[in-house]
Amino acid sequence: MSILPLNLDSDMLTLPAPRLQAATLEEALQRRCSTRIFLPDSLSLEELSAVLWAAFGVNRPESGGRTAPSARGWQEVLVYAVMAEGAWRYDGQAHRLDLVKAGDLRAATGVQDFVGSAPLNLVYVADFERMHDAREEDRVFLAGVDAGCIAENVYLYCAAAGLATVVRALIDRRNLAQALDLKPTQRIALAQSIGRTGLIQ
Ligand SMILES: Cc1cc2nc3c(=O)[nH]c(=O)nc-3n(C[C@H](O)[C@H](O)[C@H](O)COP(=O)(O)O)c2cc1C
Repeated sequence: MSILPLNLDSDMLTLPAPRLQAATLEEALQRRCSTRIFLPDSLSLEELSAVLWAAFGVNRPESGGRTAPSARGWQEVLVYAVMAEGAWRYDGQAHRLDLVKAGDLRAATGVQDFVGSAPLNLVYVADFERMHDAREEDRVFLAGVDAGCIAENVYLYCAAAGLATVVRALIDRRNLAQALDLKPTQRIALAQSIGRTGLIQ
């Protein structure tokens, strides 16, 4: 059963202010690891809020600066949150989720079995239109690096909060781009599964 107060009659979900865990950076680095076994339990709205903020939220409201760096400050990576109830796009400035599609698209976010049951799969989509003046041959490379910075933020938050995660490049990109109604200039860089694990870590 979902514990998220998701109202699919509304296409917007305002997230509570993020509250992060008080683990030290050293503790988070010590615990950081990839996990591929997930319990089906949903994340709480507070956990979802904190994961998204850690990923690519605004940490400097005066400038709109984000928790992860991006090449030339393009902020070109769009973060999609794919859960059992639907797929949303994260608006970091407003700290809210905008519904993209209702329905369970989790299995389409990767080719490994666990992605269909992990409660949250983030998808990092580079919007090439935001990469002004980037040389053609640099775009994919820089977008991949920027998505990787976001993924590491999520790894560290999960390590601090006792959540399990794994970043993933094994994706059927064509299929997922169709499922998320992406434009040709929006390219999937990585995905990342998040949840709880029964494993002792
Ligand atoms: C760019 C990148 C892509 C990855 N793709 C996948 C993937 O598709 N599936 C997967 O299970 N793990 C994937 N991983 C996780 C790595 O397998 C994992 O980080 C590595 O085995 C080291 O384990 P650790 O993260 O526990 O230290 C990826 C990691 C990175 C950095």
